[in-house]
Amino acid sequence: MTTKRGATIIGWGKALPSKIVTNGDLERIVDTSDEWITTRTGIKERRVASPEQAASDLALDAAQAALKRANINAEELDLIIVATVTPDMAFPATACLLQHRLGAQNASAFDLEAGCSGFLYGLTIGCQFVQNGTYNHVLIVGVDILSRITNWQDRNTCVLFGDGAAAVILGPCESGQGILSTYLGSDGSGGSHLYLPAGGSRRPLDQLALEQGLQYIHMNGPEVFKFAVRIMGEAAAEVLKRADLKLEDVTYLIPHQANQRIIDAAARRLHLPTERVLVNLDRYGNMSSASIPVALAEAADDGRFQPGDVLVLVGFGAGLTWGAAVLKWDQV
Ligand code: ACO
Repeated sequence: MTTKRGATIIGWGKALPSKIVTNGDLERIVDTSDEWITTRTGIKERRVASPEQAASDLALDAAQAALKRANINAEELDLIIVATVTPDMAFPATACLLQHRLGAQNASAFDLEAGCSGFLYGLTIGCQFVQNGTYNHVLIVGVDILSRITNWQDRNTCVLFGDGAAAVILGPCESGQGILSTYLGSDGSGGSHLYLPAGGSRRPLDQLALEQGLQYIHMNGPEVFKFAVRIMGEAAAEVLKRADLKLEDVTYLIPHQANQRIIDAAARRLHLPTERVLVNLDRYGNMSSASIPVALAEAADDGRFQPGDVLVLVGFGAGLTWGAAVLKWDQV
């Protein structure tokens, strides 16, 4: 048994498709308006992958940027975790495709699926391996191409989502630095609030399923909304307690980016002023597993974080699942 040490983010990167779809563009596809989408969600535009772009393509770009920032080679990676609900294909894992394309021949690789909480699940798993000394470098990618499982005729869902990827690399640090605490949870009783009916062993994708639109996201928006507002506050409070910190200690909250009203309600419950809450959904919509790490990578690239800043990451998603992490930023 090795001595417990810390785990910290030593590299980060993001990749976003270049194509922008605005609310005005959606007005021409479904019966909606920029006014409705903006006031009900806060979203103004989102990125949409080109037909030839798959999850591993965006993941590759994000991972290469993270390797460069960490100043390590792909051969130095010990583990690759890809969090996604839109893998290139059911198998092999997108993480294995990524491992090959990166040339990370010393890494083990697997995908995990925890809906929009996937990145936080990956971060928590990677953190354990680094803290207990099993691995030195773990790459965690959050990537989703939700445009492929979105029904573009359904105004209830198509206005919400976007495509993107972001990656972080964890490395060792002193105990008590870097990732201070994590918290994960699941409630499978809410699985039917957010799901993709066909394409699995329960309901293979046949012609009838296609005709019924079962290849697309099905969502009970109001139920997910209620759950999200409650769980974001609870998860943030719990993860701070585990880090022995208080809300006053938080420099930035980085919430999952599903709806501005969910973020505002969670921030109000936590008594956090808006300037301490990072938001990117106006530009990207809900990118599922990619939302939180894209917000993190963007803010880090913009130089918003100072060493010693306390960041709280908190998200929720299909499952239902939720997750949170507290980090003490230590990069300059
Ligand atoms: N444009 C115009 N009208 C719309 C649109 C639209 N795009 N979408 C829905 N409406 C209509 C509805 O049909 C409804 O009309 P009706 O009253 O005549 O039936 C009306 O607007 C109100 O609908 P509500 O569902 O009450 O709207 P609400 O204020 O709850 O907002 C929303 C809906 C935005 C979906 C909200 O419930 C939400 O954000 N829920 C959480 C979603 C979420 O977080 N999902 C996570 C997904 S993660 C993943 O999938 C990987």
